[in-house]
Amino acid sequence: MKRIDVSSIGFGEACDEGFEQLFPFLDDDESNVMAPIQFASLELVRSALQIAEICSKDKICDIGCGDGRFAIVSFCEYGVQQSIGIEIDSDLATLAKEKVKRAKELLSGDKERNSDKLIIVEGNFFELDEKQQALVEESTLFIVYLLKDKMHLLESFLRKQLEKGARFISILFPFLDWKPIKKSDDEKVLVYSKDSIPKSNCKST
Ligand SMILES: C[S@@+](CC[C@H](N)C(=O)[O-])C[C@H]1O[C@@H](n2cnc3c(N)ncnc32)[C@H](O)[C@@H]1O
Repeated sequence: MKRIDVSSIGFGEACDEGFEQLFPFLDDDESNVMAPIQFASLELVRSALQIAEICSKDKICDIGCGDGRFAIVSFCEYGVQQSIGIEIDSDLATLAKEKVKRAKELLSGDKERNSDKLIIVEGNFFELDEKQQALVEESTLFIVYLLKDKMHLLESFLRKQLEKGARFISILFPFLDWKPIKKSDDEKVLVYSKDSIPKSNCKST
């Protein structure tokens, strides 16, 4: 399978440092917007996927995909079966869809790839329709680059997915008091699996 470097698509400025102090208003926000608009660098995206030992059998879901970089890199450079990015901000979702279109042009000619499986969904993660939810629940590797104070909103969803065998990557911020199974040396990438779920909360044995 051809692995396509997507650097030429041109992804905008990234922020690989903590941003909580920059957006204090979101901490008190009652809505389920879980993070401001900031992107991980392509370098961080690639290293996160490698640390999580991404493989071609994986199906990726980026919860809050920004301009779609995790979905696009995982699909084009690591050859995963399916990549979905969910984005609440409509301008960003449009940008992500434009970048996906360019990624699909790069993939065209590779008959082994079904580029319909690279998908951007515009919407609130908590308000997806049944069909979108079913797609999301097929995923085996989730990406979470969200504010620490908002992560509790995903606790029950992610617990259920991990118990089914999925894993997730949290960028920059530890997920609640769960124990990562792997992390990068600088701790910007934290990987969680079923073994990370605190025992008292773990429904299955
Ligand atoms: C910190 S950015 C990360 C973007 C991308 N995942 C990356 O790593 O480059 C978080 C994104 O989550 C989106 N977001 C926040 N709450 C959301 C929600 N409830 N549903 C879908 N997207 C959401 C924001 O609009 C923002 O683009």
